[in-house]
Amino acid sequence: MSILFTPYKIGKTEIKNRFVKSATYESMSRPDGIVTEQLITTYRLLAKGDVGLIIPGFMNVHPYGKAMPFQTGIYSDDMIPGLRRLTDAVHEYGAKIFFQLAHAGMQTSREVLGRTPMGPSGSRRDPVYLFKPAKMSQDDIVTAIRAFSDAAQRAAEAGADGVQIHAAHGYLISQFLSPFLNDRDDAWGGSDENRFRLMREVMLAVRTALPPDMPVIVKINVNDFAPKDGVQPELAKKYCGWLAALKVDGIETSCSLPVYSFMNMIRGDVPVRELVRAFPLWKRPAAWVMTKRLDGNYNLEEGYNLDGAKVIRSATGSIPLIVVGGMRSKGFMEKHLLNGDLDFISMARPFIREPDLVKRFRAGKSEAASCVSCNQCFAAMMNRLPLRCYNKDLYRHHNKKSILRANV
Ligand SMILES: Cc1cc2nc3c(=O)[nH]c(=O)nc-3n(C[C@H](O)[C@H](O)[C@H](O)COP(=O)(O)O)c2cc1C
Repeated sequence: MSILFTPYKIGKTEIKNRFVKSATYESMSRPDGIVTEQLITTYRLLAKGDVGLIIPGFMNVHPYGKAMPFQTGIYSDDMIPGLRRLTDAVHEYGAKIFFQLAHAGMQTSREVLGRTPMGPSGSRRDPVYLFKPAKMSQDDIVTAIRAFSDAAQRAAEAGADGVQIHAAHGYLISQFLSPFLNDRDDAWGGSDENRFRLMREVMLAVRTALPPDMPVIVKINVNDFAPKDGVQPELAKKYCGWLAALKVDGIETSCSLPVYSFMNMIRGDVPVRELVRAFPLWKRPAAWVMTKRLDGNYNLEEGYNLDGAKVIRSATGSIPLIVVGGMRSKGFMEKHLLNGDLDFISMARPFIREPDLVKRFRAGKSEAASCVSCNQCFAAMMNRLPLRCYNKDLYRHHNKKSILRANV
């Protein structure tokens, strides 16, 4: 049997195969953050498709940490019953589910929050929404840490099998970790140890809030791709070594600060027209120039976060390593699992298009995901549409099995 279909443990929790559905914002929860039937149906389908570990889209741990209008919330006990229905649906098919706990920090908008977003620093204007963030006080930081641990407790009450702390992609913890975004000179910045302090405190608080055997994993950038001074693989390695010392149960490696370098996170095509449409009319000419410039420069390379992941592995040893980013073909996945470069294959866009991809791989019906990384799903998210594959060819030939199953 292929190594892809062998079980592997994260902490004491056994995952039935090596496939992880990476967190992907769905734009499907109610404006008040409560889970909908549409969201539950989406994950039931993935669980039915035999994905071993499902990580739903980021859940905001505090109302001030909300990034998107239809994001799932986990900041109030009223949210637990909906979340419980979600975990029940996934468990019906033997999949495990970890909740991704996130605080947007300054990577959100006034429109979504109803107030000025806050982050580690107040000096740098947001390049997309053009506001100057509020610099977080000591009290704000303590509130955020508390919000993570309260959310973790709710995740356990809702039946999640584990939690993933979102420390990647330019959200709050990633902002503190990044020398480019964190210019503080107090206990929370100024040195690598201080920039890591929020990560450490959140990790410890979450661990304390959870039952002893419930796994805590972290998604972290191996590279910020910041205009300057961002996290690079060597710094990520240092941070991951510290996470290992804190007994993290698993690490998922990703990359990029999206407001500066979103295409590094989602290599592939740049859907210029659809992305520009997400901006108000007066911003569209500038948005056009900015996005057009990216077009053609981010072709998908299979497993594009693997090189960074290999660097951090030297500091994390046997801690389960999950790698996301451009994983597409079965042969490539098997090769790197067998090499010991990683322990889990994580995918986002391929599972949007083919929730049954794992079953298809196992039955020998596919050798590679049919996702073409057109990034229409990402553009749709920016336009506030619910998550699904918006690939135009797929659309046009919606009922033609030959197109849907192009790689059989
Ligand atoms: C529409 C969309 C929404 C995403 N939402 C999240 C999210 O909620 N949390 C997260 O950590 N990453 C998010 N990502 C990033 C993915 O998890 C993943 O890191 C990235 O898409 C690269 O993997 P892939 O090549 O398998 O798609 C999102 C990506 C897309 C395309």
